Amino acid sequence: MAPPPTGRRKPNILVTGTPGTGKTTTSSLLSDATEFRHINIGDLVKEKNLHDGWDDELECHIINEDLVCDELEDLMEQGGNIVDYHGCDFFPERWFDRVVVLQTDNSVLYDRLSNRGYMGSKLTSNIECEIFQVLLEEARSSYREDIVVPLVSNCVEDISKNVTTLSDWIRSWQPTS
Ligand SMILES: Nc1ncnc2c1ncn2[C@@H]1O[C@H](COP(=O)(O)OP(=O)(O)O)[C@@H](O)[C@H]1O
Ligand SMILES: [Mg+2]
Repeated sequence: MAPPPTGRRKPNILVTGTPGTGKTTTSSLLSDATEFRHINIGDLVKEKNLHDGWDDELECHIINEDLVCDELEDLMEQGGNIVDYHGCDFFPERWFDRVVVLQTDNSVLYDRLSNRGYMGSKLTSNIECEIFQVLLEEARSSYREDIVVPLVSNCVEDISKNVTTLSDWIRSWQPTS
């Protein structure tokens, strides 16, 4: 089935995946390569106070999804955005032309998250999130199957490969209306 017309002259990409899979690194390099805008949702939530306080157990802000969506609506309408977040089910489906799910082998991810200082339940819950492919399932149940692409992100070479793949895709993208 053909995608619905969007009116955008440039596509929007969502980069999602378990924390530590390389969303921010990949999005930042992709932004350098394409001059698309990198929107790190975690940073935006902090900067603009788009949250309902701090979750002591999960050690993160309690994101206010409605405020985030209101904040981004105009930019997303323009297109040319790379949105970077470890969740994907609350954004309007119509915003995205590509949903990339980064995936990392458990042992590699374990080391990355330990290096980042994650311990105990914060570490194990993120490893479980990756084992059970939570973000891939979430992406597949929230977006059309043909726009959801899993990409392996185990080593530095994978990052450059993924940036090249996504830059090529952006360059060949055509508006549907
Ligand atoms: N494919 C990869 N190969 C090697 N190191 C990576 C890779 N992706 C990310 N990293 C490293 O792992 C850490 C977490 O990456 P980051 O981009 O912050 O992940 P995320 O934004 O998904 O939480 C960083 O130190 C980064 O340099
Ligand atoms: Mg990040």
